Amino acid sequence: MKKKSDMKKGNSNRPKILVTGGAGFIGSHTTVELWNAGYEPVIVDNFSNSKKWVVISIRELTSSGIRCYDVDCCDQTNMRKVFEKEGQFYGIIHFAAYKSVSESVDQPELYYSNNIGALKCIMELKEEFGIPDLIFSSSATVYGDVKNLPVTENAPLGAASSPYGVTKQLGEELLLDAFETGAIILRYFNPIGAHPSGLLGELPAGTPQNLVPFITQTAIGKRKALKVFGTDYNTSDGTCIRDYIHVVDLARAHLSALGRLLVDRKTDIFNVGTGRGYSVKEVVETFQKVNGITLPVIYDARREGDVEAVYADCTKANQLLLNWRAEYSLDDALMHAWKWEIRLAEGIDLAA
Ligand code: UD1
Repeated sequence: MKKKSDMKKGNSNRPKILVTGGAGFIGSHTTVELWNAGYEPVIVDNFSNSKKWVVISIRELTSSGIRCYDVDCCDQTNMRKVFEKEGQFYGIIHFAAYKSVSESVDQPELYYSNNIGALKCIMELKEEFGIPDLIFSSSATVYGDVKNLPVTENAPLGAASSPYGVTKQLGEELLLDAFETGAIILRYFNPIGAHPSGLLGELPAGTPQNLVPFITQTAIGKRKALKVFGTDYNTSDGTCIRDYIHVVDLARAHLSALGRLLVDRKTDIFNVGTGRGYSVKEVVETFQKVNGITLPVIYDARREGDVEAVYADCTKANQLLLNWRAEYSLDDALMHAWKWEIRLAEGIDLAA
């Protein structure tokens, strides 16, 4: 078994972790948590769906000079240069991927080439440079239409509903085939919220597709009304149920996954959620209550491709990811998301 003190180090005494997509929503929060926990995160991001000023915010939050390379993860030549320049990474957390379900339906080729291409490049460099650990961002989308709730990691997969989901499922299979040890796959449920400081958060490109950014943009006046998609589901109030997890809790799960690999090298899969489902109506009502805002809401038809209810069984993560568990409440997440939206409205130069 390795100890943290055995981890290969860079110039600092901090174990160096490569964070691909480290300027993105989950990547940026994870980078901050890594720094706070004593790691030295190094970001690679091509800024296709993120902004360069996010890296400045990360440095501000951590009072650090965290390095960032503007490189596409599919570009093996330039990725190799990052590995050569940085020296030994102890681990890689691979976030860099396209993530829009609807875009993936319109441009499946783009999703296959980018998401699978980037993962293959990372896997090859992991081998070439002898990097012990890899954490992979997967998604609860791989479960598709769930039969038994809460959903465990052993549930049958059904991701074929979108090319995005297929890239996640295929990514998992590639990793399981290639690495018997040293890889952890995290299946994220619905990440929401923002950094409690208000310095980091989600930056949806164009019209948001996910519920919480749509709520905050409606509350700030960028959108006329929130549409609730479907009120005739077989749930307590007729709206869909999801497991919403605060992005900082999700970020911390990555640190626990790195810690887990110190204890047990076996490649494994973990659900990362709260274990509790909330309906769309409950999320909307909670947002209004905690932030003192009334939202214009339109009750609309179902959105194609939505599953009725899905929330995680997190027993495995709670037990094996070093007692990791989600700590923030839905109230916290919705307060932090609103704080972030207000900060955006106060004027960050979004062109930067
Ligand atoms: C979506 C993606 C999923 C991805 C996940 C996390 C789809 C079909 N699935 O899941 O692959 O892993 O995000 O980012 O897009 N809702 C509204 N009004 C809105 C937006 C959403 O009522 O304006 C409802 C949806 O119908 C759903 C719930 O809110 O019931 C959550 O939606 P969303 O945030 O898009 O997440 P998922 O559908 O779970």
